[in-house]
Amino acid sequence: MNKYLKEYKWSNIAAMLRNNKSKPAECHESANGKLVLISGATSGIGYYTALEYASHGADLICINRNREKSKSLKAEISQKYGVACDYYIADYTHLSDVIRIGKTLSELDREIDVLIHNAGVFLTKKTITKDGYEQVYQVNFLSSFILTYMLMDKLKTQNQARIIYVNSEGHRFSLAGAQLDDPLWERHLYTGLKSYGVAKTAQLLSLIPFSENFKDSNVTINAIHPGDVKTNMGENNGKIYKFFKHLFINTLAKSPKLSAIALYYLGVSQSVKTVTGKFFNFTTEEIPAPHALDAEASRELWEKIVSSEVFRDI
Ligand SMILES: NC(=O)c1ccc[n+]([C@@H]2O[C@H](COP(=O)([O-])OP(=O)(O)OC[C@H]3O[C@@H](n4cnc5c(N)ncnc54)[C@H](OP(=O)(O)O)[C@@H]3O)[C@@H](O)[C@H]2O)c1
Repeated sequence: MNKYLKEYKWSNIAAMLRNNKSKPAECHESANGKLVLISGATSGIGYYTALEYASHGADLICINRNREKSKSLKAEISQKYGVACDYYIADYTHLSDVIRIGKTLSELDREIDVLIHNAGVFLTKKTITKDGYEQVYQVNFLSSFILTYMLMDKLKTQNQARIIYVNSEGHRFSLAGAQLDDPLWERHLYTGLKSYGVAKTAQLLSLIPFSENFKDSNVTINAIHPGDVKTNMGENNGKIYKFFKHLFINTLAKSPKLSAIALYYLGVSQSVKTVTGKFFNFTTEEIPAPHALDAEASRELWEKIVSSEVFRDI
């Protein structure tokens, strides 16, 4: 019997269904002079979010894996909005890239106002990276965990900073939680929905220790479900999945411009300035699934990660 089942409340599920139909609140405050970091800004939600912040006057640093797409994004943003748009290249399937970027960013001599962890992937077939992690877990969760961890000291010394994880209602697919006992899927049947759910659940669990860590600082850390929107997510999978996605998911999906509006609101609006450790559906605060609130699992997850071999180089 799943230990979280008895913790489900119909009112929370009803709220999620209601929120899924909502529109994001808009923020009309300026972002002039702010520096915003966005990962995965070359496509979908990240791309529109970069445009949204730039159109409000923010300077950008994008963390992308593709140099050509990054060059054209930089050119488009500088030309359209006249703000600074830099980029660093990092492929999150290589943790050495992530650690290199983390070191560079931690030495940046400018305050990072908003840090948006957006890069992500959805895979229907299990893939283990050269670092020895399941790929969806590494790209969607572990890489952003490492970057946040490496930037903790810098962010705490700043006047303020907001960290936003682009998470998902998909965290609900992993009914049993972050599956800490079987990270390589040796004893569980791998599916795209479950592995995605595990990665997003792990990210929500990490909000608990991170927000505790930032308690006496002006740093907030939150997560967002950015709507069900039409992007390139999942397009790297096989024909059957793509057929299903184009036929059913894409036809119901909204515009990623709505995700960008929500991400701007959470990053800039004064009304959420001090909110931390929370999950939002667009811009509405929501209670995630019980397995994503398990304090004991969050401690175990934290211990496992910070005592792992990769943390010897951090
Ligand atoms: N679309 C939705 O309905 C939805 C719903 C809930 C949550 N989300 C979340 O939203 C975030 C953005 O996804 P999206 O829907 O905008 O999908 P997308 O269009 O596929 O964008 C994903 C971004 O992540 C980058 N990326 C992928 N693998 C990477 C890697 N190994 N290293 C570094 N960057 C990598 C991609 O780079 P390239 O341009 O080089 O491919 C791209 O910039 C993800 O975290 C996703 O889980 C999406």
